[in-house]
Amino acid sequence: MMIISSHHILFFSLLLLAPLVVVSYSWPSTTYRHVYVENDLGNGTLLTLHCKERNNDLGVQNLNYKEAFKFQFRSEIFGLKLYFCGLTWDGKLHWFDVYDEQRDLHFCKDLHWSINRDRPCLFNCDTQKYDCVYDYK
Ligand SMILES: *[C@@H]1O[C@H](CO)[C@@H](O)[C@H](O)[C@H]1NC(C)=O
Repeated sequence: MMIISSHHILFFSLLLLAPLVVVSYSWPSTTYRHVYVENDLGNGTLLTLHCKERNNDLGVQNLNYKEAFKFQFRSEIFGLKLYFCGLTWDGKLHWFDVYDEQRDLHFCKDLHWSINRDRPCLFNCDTQKYDCVYDYK
C-alpha cells in the first residue's frame, strides 16, 4: 500500500511548476523588446550611430542632441543575439554592445541607453536610475 503524504504532493507540485518558473524568468519569445540609443553628448554635438547584428545592418543614423534611435526584436531564450554599435562624435569612433542576450536577457524589457562622452549609461527599471557601469571599447 502506498501512502501519499502531503510532502509528496508538495514535491510533485514543485516538479511540475519548476519549468514554468524558468520560462517566466526570461522574456517570452513572443515579446518584442525595444532598444533606444539617445544622444546625450551635449547641445551642438552630432552623434553618428551605426548598429549591426551579425547579418543585419541597421544602417547609419545621424542624431542631434537628445534625439534617439530605436529598434526592436523578439527575445530568444536560447539565442545568442548580439547588437553592437559604432558611435562617432568629434571625429572619434567608439564601440559598445547595445544588446547582448547573455548579459541582458533578464534585464528590463526595453533598454534605454544614454550616450555620454565618458560612458554609455543604461536605464535600470528596478531602481529608476541610469547605471553607468560599461565602458566604450
Ligand atoms: C540647443 O541650443 C540651442 C541654441 O542655444 C537652443 O535653441 C536649443 O533649444 C537647445 N536644444 C536643446 C535640446 O537643449
